[in-house]
Amino acid sequence: MIHRPYGDKSGKRDSHYKRDEDGRWFRWQKLRGKEPYKIYLSDKGRRLGEVWSISHINASAKERTGYPTQKPISLYERIIKASSNEGDIVLDCFAGCATTCVAAERLNRQWVGIDIWDKAHDVVVDRLRKEVGVFGEVTYTQELPD
Ligand SMILES: C[S@@+](CC[C@H](N)C(=O)[O-])C[C@H]1O[C@@H](n2cnc3c(N)ncnc32)[C@H](O)[C@@H]1O
Repeated sequence: MIHRPYGDKSGKRDSHYKRDEDGRWFRWQKLRGKEPYKIYLSDKGRRLGEVWSISHINASAKERTGYPTQKPISLYERIIKASSNEGDIVLDCFAGCATTCVAAERLNRQWVGIDIWDKAHDVVVDRLRKEVGVFGEVTYTQELPD
């Protein structure tokens, strides 16, 4: 199950919620004919459902690279967080304009990006330089590593 941290406008800041002696957020549930009882917010944050609502990249968005099939980075960040830990290796063998690589780098994962399109290389290097400051100097090789 995937969780997202509570934001400022979540129930956590709702006036119904209070902190208990351990600092955990709860509210009182009062049902007719029953003793009031506490309902706690999950420490993990809000539970995400099976359908995620993530906006497309609008025409003037900063993250837009011009790559025709670019996906929103927030989508890939969510997938990477949900399915890996820091230090893990993330592989995208259809890397396109490197959205996965940028997201993985920001989240302290190692990553491998592969794409068959010959221009993808320039797009990927340029984006990674600008957005996450990697690829100061690029070495090209057709040799396979040992
Ligand atoms: C939908 S795009 C990926 C876009 C990427 N998710 C992003 O947000 O930047 C799919 C990519 O797969 C690449 N591709 C298609 N067939 C491939 C293959 N056999 N091997 C490697 N890459 C391939 C295409 O060149 C294209 O860049």
